[in-house]
Amino acid sequence: MSELDVVKYRVEDRIAWVYFSRPEKRNAMSPTLNRRMAEVLDELEFRDDVGVLVLGGEGTAWSAGMDLKEYFRETEAQGLKGVRKSQRESYGWFRRLRWFQKPTIAMVNGWCFGGGFGPLFACDLAITADDAKFGLSEINWGILPGGGVTKVVVDLLAMRDAMWLTLTGELIDGRKAAEWRLVNESVPLDRLEARVREVAQLLLTKNPVALKFAKDAIRRVGTMTYDEAEDYLVRMQEAANFHDKSDGRKEGIRQFIDEKSYKPGLGAYDLSKASA
Ligand code: COA
Repeated sequence: MSELDVVKYRVEDRIAWVYFSRPEKRNAMSPTLNRRMAEVLDELEFRDDVGVLVLGGEGTAWSAGMDLKEYFRETEAQGLKGVRKSQRESYGWFRRLRWFQKPTIAMVNGWCFGGGFGPLFACDLAITADDAKFGLSEINWGILPGGGVTKVVVDLLAMRDAMWLTLTGELIDGRKAAEWRLVNESVPLDRLEARVREVAQLLLTKNPVALKFAKDAIRRVGTMTYDEAEDYLVRMQEAANFHDKSDGRKEGIRQFIDEKSYKPGLGAYDLSKASA
């Protein structure tokens, strides 16, 4: 098996299906996997034939978190230099994914532990299988949830739920994860891929520039005051206008007001009629 095989991907109908691919190690994130994932994101991000990225896991796991042997023990054996390097590599691709050019969907098919919450949060949307299991196992082996994970649960969950996961190390299943809003939806495993495809296809009908600016805005405004956010959003829309060479918003208005060919309240304008 080549080192490249720890991440697999295919592009189909404008959806990039990317998979953690160390099923025999429950897709634990090793330094090799982290480096390869960064390369794969790089390869896919600006491809014209990619409009949405889905991140799934091969086998029974989505990801069993950081690889305790290769990510922790072996890098610690190299001293601080090794530790910092492996942290940079993993945090690097999580960050890259958070700000990815295209919308992203976590397709959580199975185990999702600890460090796995990093890419889970990095994906814009998350859909899981009812019986997938989520947990912060860190407390079970004697550490706090680092690598941004504590921040992830505080941002995504109610304080009591974040505290519960963190202190007990107990698992919740996909249904509970949806109830707690750690993910958007939970569906039976045999419907997971179809449901993710449906959501991806819905995203593909939207203006891609608007999607990128809107998803970044969601992540940015949380820490801003109202006035800062208001100002930021005005400037971001103006920047979006510059980037959107199709003049999408004008076309969207035209198709509704002049052409009367769609209703914005009920769906997106026809992207294919836009000029560029
Ligand atoms: N780091 C390193 N190796 C891991 C791993 C991890 N996070 N998760 C699983 N593996 C390895 C196991 O060591 C085992 O390797 P081996 O076949 O060489 O013995 C292999 O993957 C299969 O794991 P196993 O425990 O037999 O699978 P399972 O299906 O019975 O259990 C889990 C799955 C995920 C519950 C269990 O592997 C586990 O608890 N993993 C650790 C989760 C964790 O704490 N992650 C760290 C968060 S920061």
